[in-house]
Order: sequence, then structure tokens, then C-alpha cells
Amino acid sequence: MGSREVDGGLHVALIMDGNGRWAEARGLPRSEGHRRGADVVDSIVEAAPDAGVRILTLYAFSSDNWNRPRREVSLLMSLFRTYLRKERRRCAREGVRVTIVGRRDRLSAAVLREVDRTESATRDGDVLHLRLCVDYSSRDRLLDAAERYAASEARGRDAYARCLGEAGGEDTGAPAVDLLVRTGGEHRLSDFMLWESAYAEIRFLDVMWPEFDVAELQSSVAWFHGRERRFGRTPTR
Ligand code: IPE
Ligand code: IPE
Ligand code: MG
Repeated sequence: MGSREVDGGLHVALIMDGNGRWAEARGLPRSEGHRRGADVVDSIVEAAPDAGVRILTLYAFSSDNWNRPRREVSLLMSLFRTYLRKERRRCAREGVRVTIVGRRDRLSAAVLREVDRTESATRDGDVLHLRLCVDYSSRDRLLDAAERYAASEARGRDAYARCLGEAGGEDTGAPAVDLLVRTGGEHRLSDFMLWESAYAEIRFLDVMWPEFDVAELQSSVAWFHGRERRFGRTPTR
């Protein structure tokens, strides 16, 4: 497949945090928070194109999340598999191209099968590019890209971004993030999109991910449009 990207809209990246605390605050098991969180993903993906989003990058499972209890990891993987199986037809129909970003060699055969089917069923989607980050570590990807860059002849940031794309198995390079939103009240990046977010507008919300909704997405995009992105220059006013 050639290199291409969905044009004419924002690249929004979401750190979907707070599932566990949302559940615990209600006396529910953490698993219930993850289930509710997965339902929220459906509605956000559906609303994203109308909100002006053309690339949506979701942090679903970090490489450090393998250090959670085995049962929680299994549940997260099974929710991920179910999400792909359930949503792939709708995504294909609605022009949503789904790709998975992250290491694949530690995913189970069952998960990988759904990943492959989903990526090929949705490969022609040009309304929204949905990038699901699973077993994702930005630092590991930067290291991998550095090795590729050292072995290549091209120089400069664009060349490095291409290496970063290749390091993640992507044909789209490493698109710069316009707007990064983290739910769950923490003010940190947790090893997410460190290069791509160099000039991202960053928004930290106290709302837990299971309570994030389309209105929050829309107000985040509106907040983004109210920022002046100076990229190092002096203000224009
Ligand atoms: C985000 O919610 C989902 C994943 C990290 C997989 P958490 O599970 O981190 O929820 P909190 O932060 O413990 O509330
Ligand atoms: C970041 O959340 C990863 C995802 C949302 C998938 P974490 O809950 O794992 O991050 P920390 O541990 O609070 O930094
Ligand atoms: Mg968390």
C-alpha cells in the first residue's frame, strides 16, 4: 500500500484514562469501568468526523500496562478483540480506516487475527483514520526509529518522522498531533506520542473516561480552535 493520509481535518489523540477509578468510586469492579470505557469509544469514533477530526489516535493499552494483574490484562485484550470484531463492519461502511499502532509480537493469535481482518476490511476508509495504540510505548518506538534513521541516508525531521512511522509498521509516517486530550485528572503523557506532540495543544480533563462524551469532544475541539498556535513565532495580534 502506498503512503497516504486523510486530509483536511484535525489529528486528535486521546489518552483514555480513569476507567478503574470511575468504577471504584461506584463500588464496581475495575472491569466494569473498562467495559463502559469501550462503549464510549464507539460513540466518539462515530462523532469524530462531524467534529472535524480526520485522524483519531486512541491510547488503549500501553506497553507498561502489561505490568497490571493478569486478569485485568486478559479482560482488556478481550474487550479489544470484541471491539474489533463488532465494529469492523460499521467502520468499513462508514469509511473509517482502522490501524493498530504498537508492538504486535506480544499480542495473542486470536487478537492478531481480528487486527488483520479489521485492517484489511477497512483499508479503503477515507473519512476518518482511527489509530488504536495497543502495546504502545513512544520511547520504544523512538529507539526503533533511531536505529532505522542511523541506517538510512535521508536526514532531517521529515526523514526521522518517516522512520518513526516505519517503526510502528505504518504507511502514514508519524502524523503530528494537533490536539491531545487526557481524561482522568492526571497531568502526564505516560509514554504517549512524545515526538508527534511537539506542538500539540494539550488538554487535561478531570472527567473519567467512562463519562467522556461527544459534547466533551466537541468542546475540546472548540477549545483547540480558540488557541493561537505560534510555533515559536511572536503573537499575531
Ligand atoms: C485507562 O483506565 C485504561 C487503561 C489504562 C487500559 P485505567 O485502567 O488506567 O483507570 P485508572 O487510571 O486506574 O482509573
Ligand atoms: C495510560 O494510562 C495508558 C492508557 C490510557 C492506555 P495509565 O493509567 O496506564 O497511566 P499511568 O500509569 O497513570 O501513568
Ligand atoms: Mg490510569
